[in-house]
Amino acid sequence: MLFIITTPTKKCNLLGENILTFLEIFFSSSQIEDFVLKYVQKSGGFMLKTCDIIDEKNKILRQVSEEVTFPLTKEDKKNIKLMEEYLVNSQIEELAEKYDLRPGMGMSAVQIGVLKRYIVIVMEVTTEDDDEQVFDTYVVINPKIVSNSEEKIYVEDGEGCLSINRETTGIVPRFARCTVEGYDMDGKKIRIRAREELSIAFQHEIDHLNGILFIDHIDPKDPFKGKDIYRPI
Ligand code: NI
Repeated sequence: MLFIITTPTKKCNLLGENILTFLEIFFSSSQIEDFVLKYVQKSGGFMLKTCDIIDEKNKILRQVSEEVTFPLTKEDKKNIKLMEEYLVNSQIEELAEKYDLRPGMGMSAVQIGVLKRYIVIVMEVTTEDDDEQVFDTYVVINPKIVSNSEEKIYVEDGEGCLSINRETTGIVPRFARCTVEGYDMDGKKIRIRAREELSIAFQHEIDHLNGILFIDHIDPKDPFKGKDIYRPI
């Protein structure tokens, strides 16, 4: 069970097992969950913080996540909501500053300690109105890349990850285009054709589900190998 509670401070929010065990003496876990959802979340005091995201030093990130069965549990739905909320807020400068959020475009469940195959990607869409930020959200359960382009690209400024909190350099070759299949939150089959940045995001997040980090793709002996072969974006 994963409970995350926010206080107005910048403290980490993963609620300790002790408190949960204490609460469980008096209430059933579904009663506790209902309470948290009803009162804490509604008041806006329930969200993921940067320090709730697991760092690369934690070996859980190296484990392979398990396939998800439907229907989704309440907890998984809640996690997805939290992941989406974090990613959206982190891309809104004002909120990112207010809550001290490190900007991110994608997150996999394992990054909040849940070894299940689901990912969330939030991508800002360009609009004519500069004042308003609009986002496309992709929630994919049991995602799989079913086809890919031959062409490879890489992020010129270097790929990043919410779980890697240090400077990294090097080229991470990714398919320029890929097709991802999986399921939505209701268990309906979905297929997404992704290109450029979105294609990279899917490959990055699906890697997480297999215990792979982007740094694994960088050749330590020659970090910029392929610079002349692949296209920078
Ligand atoms: Ni990542």
